[in-house]
This record gives sequence, structure tokens and C-alpha cells, in this order.
Amino acid sequence: MITKQHRRFVEFADTVRRNRYIGACYGAPGIGKTLSAKTYASSDDWEWWNAARHTRGAPVPESLLVSRTVLFTPHVITTPRQLEREIILRCSRLSHDIQRHLRPDWDPEFSWDMRDSPHTELLIVDEAERLKTQGLEQLRDFFDRTQIGVILIGMPGFEKQLARYPQLYSRIGFAHQYRPLDASDLMPVLASYWRAMGLEFDPVTPNTNVAITTIVRITTGNFRLIERLMGQVSRILDINHLSEVTAEVIEAARETLVIGT
Ligand SMILES: Nc1ncnc2c1ncn2[C@@H]1O[C@H](COP(=O)(O)OP(=O)(O)OP(=O)(O)O)[C@@H](O)[C@H]1O
Ligand SMILES: [Mg+2]
Repeated sequence: MITKQHRRFVEFADTVRRNRYIGACYGAPGIGKTLSAKTYASSDDWEWWNAARHTRGAPVPESLLVSRTVLFTPHVITTPRQLEREIILRCSRLSHDIQRHLRPDWDPEFSWDMRDSPHTELLIVDEAERLKTQGLEQLRDFFDRTQIGVILIGMPGFEKQLARYPQLYSRIGFAHQYRPLDASDLMPVLASYWRAMGLEFDPVTPNTNVAITTIVRITTGNFRLIERLMGQVSRILDINHLSEVTAEVIEAARETLVIGT
């Protein structure tokens, strides 16, 4: 769902990309940071294109021509060397294919330099707190050598950890806080869960109103928690042949969840 937080993320990413900064994005677990980054970078299209790009008839998708963005999630054990190889490979592949799209007669034999990725404009590194000192240093080096903007996504507090690396920190254009859903986003999200359960969503009805308040209290607008809670709500309605979501149903659903925040 296109939420306000997603739109704020898009605006942030566009700015980092346009100004070729390093940007830090931080926020609590489960509020949608990864999903926003994936959507911005059209990672579904990336997956099929990356797998099929060597075959005929697999041009670079329109979405990647627009986003010009590479998303990379390091593994817990990714070494600085692997990091360097992966990001250079991804950024150069994308740039290379965009170049081929713009100039079909282009002959890469003479001009293809792996480090030179003029058409890739943004690199997003999700779970960036996994990168230790050398990994972050590697990223700074990559940023200095290329014209590519970089976004680091991590947990709250991660943007402060970056202050321990003064050279990297001094290149950070700005930090963006990804926030939980607020009231204006919550209603359409809840309406979609009600619809999925085959129920009508009418927030003015007293029972529904109390149910919504209970959901807000339990989840504090955390998307992952809402998803898990509503999964249980649906199960409880089914088992008990109920056709209305009430505060009691929500509380019963909550008791089945382990909520760690
Ligand atoms: N805008 C959205 N529309 C639909 N579902 C969403 C949206 N945002 C988040 N979700 C749901 O919430 C779940 C958590 O989102 P996501 O993985 O992006 O969170 P995160 O902030 O990256 O968390 P973490 O810090 O744990 O990695 C997703 O699996 C997705 O199902
Ligand atoms: Mg994530």
C-alpha cells in the first residue's frame, strides 16, 4: 500500500539521488523500510531482469530505466571484498544495460569499465548495521570514486553509530526517520484487512471504533504487528463463526502473539 511513510521515503530517496549524497534512513523493526526500498528500486523487476538479461528479448525493464537504483542487502557474514564485488557488479550491470538501451549500436568492448556506472544513480544498502568498520569504509570509498548516491537503511540508533566514522559521517547529507503508520494511513490499511475478511469496514460503528482503538494501542502503527494481529483475528472469526471484529476478538488475537518490540 502506498502510505504516507512510503511517499516520504520516495521524496528522501529522490533527493539523495539527485544530489548524490549519502543518506541514512532509520526506523523501528517491521514498519516498512525494506518494502519501501524494494518498491523504490523495483526489486521484483530487477530479479527477473537480472536472471534473464543474458537471453535475447530481455531488455532492461521500464521501471529500472526510471529508478536507476540498485538495492543490496548484505548477509550477516558479507566480507568487505564480497561487498565491493557485489555492489560494483550490480551497479555496472544496470548502467551497462541502460547504455545499451539508449544506444543499441554501443560496443561495450572498448568502453566497458566495471567501476564506471554513469547511468546508475542510487545504491540502497538495507540492513546496513551489518557492515562493520571495513564495510562502511568500503562504501565510503565506492561513494568517492563514483557519482552514485547511497542510502544506508538501519535500525534506530544506527545513524548515531555512524558518527563513529567521521569521514563517512561528514558525507551524510541527511538522516531520515521512517515512522510507524499514523491515523490517516491506518484507516485505509485496516479497511483492506476488513475487506479481505469479507466484512464491511465502518469505523463509526461503536464496536468497530473500539476495535480500532484496541488495534492502535496494541500495534502502535507497526505494519508487521498489524499484519500478524489481523491474521490471528481472521482465524478467530473463522473458528468461532463470528462476523464482527470487536475489541474482545482483538484481545483474544493478541494473546496468541508473541509481541517483541
Ligand atoms: N506499505 C505497505 N503495504 C503493505 N504491507 C506493508 C507495507 N509496509 C510494511 N508492510 C508489511 O509489513 C512487513 C514489514 O515490513 P518491512 O520488512 O519492510 O519492515 P522493516 O522496517 O524493513 O523491518 P526490519 O527492520 O525488521 O527489517 C512486511 O512484510 C509487509 O508485509
Ligand atoms: Mg527490513
